[in-house]
Amino acid sequence: MSRAQISPSILAADFARLSDEIAAVSTTADWVHVDVMDAHFVPNLTLGLPVVESLVRASALPIDCHLMIEDPDRWAPGYAEAGAKSVTFHVEAAAAPVRLARDLRAAGARAGMALKPATPIEPYVDLLGELDMLLVMTVEPGFGGQPFLDVVLPKLRRCREAIRGRDLDVWLQVDGGVGAETIERCAEAGADVFVAGSAVYGAADPAAAVTALREAAERAAAS
Ligand code: DX5
Ligand code: ZN
Repeated sequence: MSRAQISPSILAADFARLSDEIAAVSTTADWVHVDVMDAHFVPNLTLGLPVVESLVRASALPIDCHLMIEDPDRWAPGYAEAGAKSVTFHVEAAAAPVRLARDLRAAGARAGMALKPATPIEPYVDLLGELDMLLVMTVEPGFGGQPFLDVVLPKLRRCREAIRGRDLDVWLQVDGGVGAETIERCAEAGADVFVAGSAVYGAADPAAAVTALREAAERAAAS
């Protein structure tokens, strides 16, 4: 595996101090993961485009936008136009995922596609070449701090094999319950981009927690 990338989720940060919370990880993290929830695709509501526009300006790190929203075909390109360097939509919500991935790339972002735990990869393997990143959810999307779902690991492996078998450079991201106890299993199964909310912002030293997570992932991938 090339260098493991860590994308701390600000869902676990203090929303009244978001720019400080991003600055707290900016020396060690690769991305900032921003969870957009619309209270329809998932039963929770977080933030939307105006806040992301402000975060793009305030953040020294690139923004990794995870859209847990209905109708991403309509709304996702706006996040790319706002300057998010990576924009991930859920395939369960997309009407035309290929067209949407192309729209995201045309707007200057890396195109990401997310799968909920029960969504299989097999119907989508021929779409992989349209993507820059595949996000395999390791919890049901909607809330931070949930326990990691080991049941997703075989799918994660199949995703890595599908990417490798096509000789593609598609990043494989995991999100949900990723921390010191679980990151090694994810890395062994082939993940190379790791979202961590509570494991980073629940730590006394968030920047050091990012470094420790990356080291654990790289150790596991090399073993
Ligand atoms: C959940 C979100 C995650 C969440 C992860 O729907 O997509 O990004 O913040 O939080 P932890 O790492 O605490 O499970
Ligand atoms: Zn997320």
